[in-house]
Amino acid sequence: MNILFIGDVVGSPGRNMVSEYIPKLKEKYRPHVTIVNGENAAAGKGITEKIYRGFLEAGAQAVTLGNHTWDNKEIFDFIDEAKYMIRPANFPENNPGKGIVYLRVNSSEVAVINLQGRTFLPAIDCPFLTAEKLVREAKERTPFVFVDFHGEATSEKQAMGWFLDGKVSAVVGTHTHVQTADERILPGGTAYITDVGMTGPYDGILGVEKDVVLKRFLTGLPVRFEVPKKGRVQLSAVFIELDDKSGLAKRIERILINDDHPFHKD
Ligand SMILES: [Fe+2]
Ligand SMILES: [Fe+2]
Repeated sequence: MNILFIGDVVGSPGRNMVSEYIPKLKEKYRPHVTIVNGENAAAGKGITEKIYRGFLEAGAQAVTLGNHTWDNKEIFDFIDEAKYMIRPANFPENNPGKGIVYLRVNSSEVAVINLQGRTFLPAIDCPFLTAEKLVREAKERTPFVFVDFHGEATSEKQAMGWFLDGKVSAVVGTHTHVQTADERILPGGTAYITDVGMTGPYDGILGVEKDVVLKRFLTGLPVRFEVPKKGRVQLSAVFIELDDKSGLAKRIERILINDDHPFHKD
């Protein structure tokens, strides 16, 4: 079982990269499942139905989210029908949507779980206890369990990696928008990376127009974050190969595509 995961897609530049590169990455890596984090897909904040459907049409099977889940209010109109959209499972229990989805691949299933950290992010339910409960549930159905842990602190994400080592196929971090070079297979067999990085503008600040962010740093005044429409772009992802019997990871490869790291077909 092979999984391709694309990190935080920011605005139209990010969405264009997804459409352009999913076919190329599929040809190169032959994933069985492609997952996209879409929490910033609508102009940097949240997601719309059209964008969600666009990801599925572009070749993704599931879309994970994060702290920007509710930023575009349109989500409340379609989240209940969006079968393949996953928001952090440790949001308050009365929230719409779901934190786990099972994707069918031939005769198997892949469980996709989204969780959000609590360090430097809103106080929500415990991601570790929620993970424990959902992983137990998922393992009764399938050995293939993929976790997108949306968190700010590297420590919290490493902690989740160790907490779930040997219990899940992969723990990949999202949210910081900066790719970390620490991809590895933990001793128990779980693929891990602290942050996959973002997909979208290459010359901004975490995908936002740099001059606007600079203005805020220099003046402390409120500014309106904009995703630059023009300019250079990048894509950040990981490819993970799993053992078909155990569901544990055999390989994790970090993928970064931009002008400084051009895409190679082979
Ligand atoms: Fe993000
Ligand atoms: Fe985020």
